[in-house]
Amino acid sequence: MRGKRLIVTLCSVVAVALWSTAGWAAPEADPLKPRVPDAERGEARKMKSPITVTPDILAKGKELYEGKGTCANCHGQTGDGNGPGGMLLTPGPRNFTNCKFHKKRNDGELFWVVKNGSTGTGMPALVNGGMITEEEAWTIIAYERTFCKDAE
Ligand code: HEC
Repeated sequence: MRGKRLIVTLCSVVAVALWSTAGWAAPEADPLKPRVPDAERGEARKMKSPITVTPDILAKGKELYEGKGTCANCHGQTGDGNGPGGMLLTPGPRNFTNCKFHKKRNDGELFWVVKNGSTGTGMPALVNGGMITEEEAWTIIAYERTFCKDAE
C-alpha cells in the first residue's frame, strides 16, 4: 500500500511539473550575439533616434508595444519574452528585462531588427511589413529600453 501511494504522489509531482513548464516559451538564442548582418551593422549603428524621450513618448510607446505593434503578443506585457504568441517560436522572443542585452545593442541595431526582422526566426519585419511606421518603431524602442530596471 505504501508503495502505491508513493507512485501516486510521484505521478502528481511529475504532472504538476509538466503542467507548470508547458506554458513557457522556448529559450531565446544567444541574446548578445549581433542580429544585424555584418555588412549592414556599421550603417545600422550610425542611425540615431529622431525622438526625444519624454514621459508622453514612453506612454505612447507602451500603447504601441501592447497594441498596434503587437510586440507584447510575443515579448510579453512585462517584456520578459513570455508572451502567448512567443510560446510557439523557436528560438524564443528576446527578454527585454535583460540589461546586458540593452548594453550590447545601440538604438540603431534595435531599429534595424524592428524594421527588417531577424532572419530565420519568428521576429517579423514590422516596419517593412507595413505594421508600424519608422517613427512608431523609434517610439516603441524608447519604451522597450525601460524594461531594463538596472539603475546604472
Ligand atoms: C510573432 C512574434 C513576435 C512579434 C509580434 C515581435 N517579436 Fe520581436 N522577436 C521575436 C523573436 C522570436 C525574437 C528573437 C529573434 C532572434 O533570436 O534573432 C525577437 C527579437 C526581437 C529583438 C531583438 C533583436 C536583437 O538585436 O537581438 C527586438 C529589439 C525585437 N524583437 C523587437 C520587437 C518589437 C519592437 C516588436 C513590436 C513592434 C516585436 N519585436 C514584435 C518575436 C516577435
